[in-house]
Amino acid sequence: MTTGQPERGKFITLEGGEGAGKTTQIKSLKNWLNDRNIDVLTTREPGGSEGAEQIRDLLVNGDVARWDAMTETLLHFAARRDHVEKVVKPALEAGKWVISDRFADSTMAYQGYGHGLGIDQIQTIYDTILSSFNTDLTIILDLETEVGLSRAISRSGGEDRYERMDIEFHQRLRQGFLEIAKNAPDRCCVVDAAGDADDVFDQIRAVVQDRLKV
Ligand code: TMP
Repeated sequence: MTTGQPERGKFITLEGGEGAGKTTQIKSLKNWLNDRNIDVLTTREPGGSEGAEQIRDLLVNGDVARWDAMTETLLHFAARRDHVEKVVKPALEAGKWVISDRFADSTMAYQGYGHGLGIDQIQTIYDTILSSFNTDLTIILDLETEVGLSRAISRSGGEDRYERMDIEFHQRLRQGFLEIAKNAPDRCCVVDAAGDADDVFDQIRAVVQDRLKV
């Protein structure tokens, strides 16, 4: 008889700039893992818990200049803390795998590089709020900034505060994601998101098989 705790699940995040195709890829990855008898919870940031979804509304709507960079960062981390404590950790401890559409690497890229707060300030807040908690695998979907933005704008559902930020902001955060991957090669992997959805998923599947031994 086995009475022990279930083996902790894996925490996978998909990251990237606007219009990189994360949502489509997360659906495919969930289905592929389910076919291998892995129970998967999909979630998103900002959001993913009741409180964090309320904070999301403050972040993705309204004037571009509504928050200064630090206030915006703290709102993202407040949402993240609630999401991690109430949703992500309990699921992982129950043995589920969790796939999140964005996580803390977005704060590093958007607020750290995009708004220019810098790596050290974001890392200090991260350490205070999340301690040693981190992802098992982060897949960064990389795409030409203009291509991603025009895809995102053409299907925008109204949550467009970040899409309205200037092109230089989006170019900085793209470079930021590439640097994040370079600085954490064991945790992160960059996938070229320019091809069609099936091509992109082939790359993602290969990374998950290789890194997480599925
Ligand atoms: P989404 O459109 O991918 O759902 O994300 C909402 C927006 O929030 C997106 O433009 C990126 C932005 N964002 C940040 O600026 N910092 C963060 O930490 C997160 C999670 C998202």
